[in-house]
Order: sequence, then C-alpha cells, then structure tokens
Amino acid sequence: MRTAVCPGSFDPLTLGHVDVVRRAATLFDEVVVGVARNSSKSPLLSPDRRVALAREVFADEERVRVEQVDGLLADFVRSVGAVAVVKGLRGGADFDAESPMALMNRHLSGVETVFVIGDTRLAHVASSLVKDVARFGGRIDDLVPDVVAPAVLEALGGASRGSGARRGEERG
Ligand code: PNS
Repeated sequence: MRTAVCPGSFDPLTLGHVDVVRRAATLFDEVVVGVARNSSKSPLLSPDRRVALAREVFADEERVRVEQVDGLLADFVRSVGAVAVVKGLRGGADFDAESPMALMNRHLSGVETVFVIGDTRLAHVASSLVKDVARFGGRIDDLVPDVVAPAVLEALGGASRGSGARRGEERG
C-alpha cells in the first residue's frame, strides 16, 4: 500500500484542493489529507471545522481520509507510513513557495514531494482570495465545495443566505 499525504491549511478547502487530492488518489493507493497549521497564517476556521468539512467533502472517496496534523508535517508523514507528500502547483509562484518546504521535509524525514499541476480552470482559486471575495460580498459557491461556502460565510459573520457575504472579521 503506497500512501501519500496532501497537506495544507485548507482555510477553507477549495475546488482547487479537491482537484489536487483527486489527482493524487489516481497515483497512490491511499491519500491522507493532512489539515495542518501554517504558522505564518491566522486561520478563519478552527482546525476541527476544517477537518470536519474535509471529511464531509471526501466522504465518498474510498482512497481518501482526512486527519489533523499536530506539529511537524515530516513527523506526521512518517507516522502514517506515507512515501510522498503531494502538493498542487498553479504556477511559478507556487513552486517558489513550495520548493523550500519540500526540501525541508526531505531534510527532516527523507520524504519526497510530488508536485501535480492542477486543473488550469482553477488556477485563480486560492483560499486567501476566496475569503477576500466572501468578505466583500462576492460569490464563492463556484470556488469551494457546497458544504464549505456556508461555513465560510458563517465564520465571517455574514449572511448565510444566497452566495455572497457581508463584510466580517477573521477570527484568531
Ligand atoms: O496550505 P498551506 O498554508 O500552503 O500549507 C502549508 C502547510 C500547512 C502544509 C505547512 O505550513 C506545514 O507543513 N505546516 C506544518 C508544520 C511544519 O511542518 N512546518 C515546517 C514546513 S517545512
């Protein structure tokens, strides 16, 4: 059984993330979606909420399970017996951001990172932009899975009716 970890903050999980996880599931026997902490970000959604939403989204995907990553990703990768980390690239900026992390994870645990190019139709979809669009009242229902949009709007303190959001403040 060859297991890969798809790590991320998933704050929130987007259709771009879902695309990358599904691509990883075509390459590996099992994919563990690792909901991790990025110390340079202040999340809108709690870790429990992000894990619960991801579990709902991937509930019907036999090869995919969702776990919370406490601490170093390199330790988590070892603890689940994964042979690789899989990350999606939307372009060169992603590569620039991801390559130091890939090298550090290899330094720490010997694990390789495999990069996949996501669906180019989703190349503009980033969690930070999704939150910004929602915060200023734009539609996010075609950027995130169905269960995720109301969770984002609720966390922003906006109306959960329709697909827009009123202005709100990030938590934590
Ligand atoms: O979705 P993101 O925020 O780009 O994902 C980054 C993430 C969460 C995967 C990264 O920050 C991470 O691995 N965090 C866990 C702690 C850790 O191992 N830090 C060192 C990374 S080299």
